[in-house]
Amino acid sequence: MNHSSEKNLREARREYKGEALRKQSMADDPISEFADWLELAEHYHPLDSTAMVLATATPDGQPSARTVLLKHFDQHGLCWYSNSGSEKGAHLAVNPRAALHFYWSAMSRQIRVSGRVEKLPRAIAEEYFHSRPEGSRYSAVASRQSSVVNTREQLETEVENLKRRFSDGNLPCPDDWCGYCLRPDRFEFWQGRENRLHDRIVYIDGDDGWQKQRLAP
Ligand SMILES: Cc1cc2nc3c(=O)[nH]c(=O)nc-3n(C[C@H](O)[C@H](O)[C@H](O)COP(=O)(O)O)c2cc1C
Repeated sequence: MNHSSEKNLREARREYKGEALRKQSMADDPISEFADWLELAEHYHPLDSTAMVLATATPDGQPSARTVLLKHFDQHGLCWYSNSGSEKGAHLAVNPRAALHFYWSAMSRQIRVSGRVEKLPRAIAEEYFHSRPEGSRYSAVASRQSSVVNTREQLETEVENLKRRFSDGNLPCPDDWCGYCLRPDRFEFWQGRENRLHDRIVYIDGDDGWQKQRLAP
């Protein structure tokens, strides 16, 4: 280990002073509660309020996490779009259990969600693909996400080739373009509080619907 680059972060701390979370005043279903939190996050975090960390794992338990953007949600789950040939796509194909994580620092709040991931119907994935800005569509087709590329120029050349080939802008949606939806069975809402005595309210999907519990911070 190179000790000259060692950095001591023990004094890097802040105080969290959010308002109390009360189990009784939180919605009966976590999606409604989530919708309220996201609305507030859009106000406090106008950039990337919908960014969420997606954690997947290989069947033998090696986890991996990366950010994706939430594109829509409803009572059934939280959805994003990606490439099924990517690392996360390969994980989800054999191990559909995954977790999502939001952290909104200005609100001192985090949300953890876990459940099973399903692919959205192809028609929905295609519809979303065609709604994306033109530049993003070319990039998505040119990039076999998570595969090794020798140079950046290789990608740029591929984009230029596609622009020539599909000069009318009618770029077909690639086969590996994919929508995913995590169907939650656990939601945790975390509010940072003074002196690290934080509030945590967890919702667990049980036989009688969602059950709420408070967890120690
Ligand atoms: C703010 C932000 C948003 C992102 N949104 C997406 C997304 O919606 N879909 C996606 O496939 N990758 C998205 N990425 C890129 C992923 O984090 C990641 O690099 C890529 O999906 C490859 O991951 P993998 O190799 O683990 O499959 C985003 C990255 C950032 C930083």
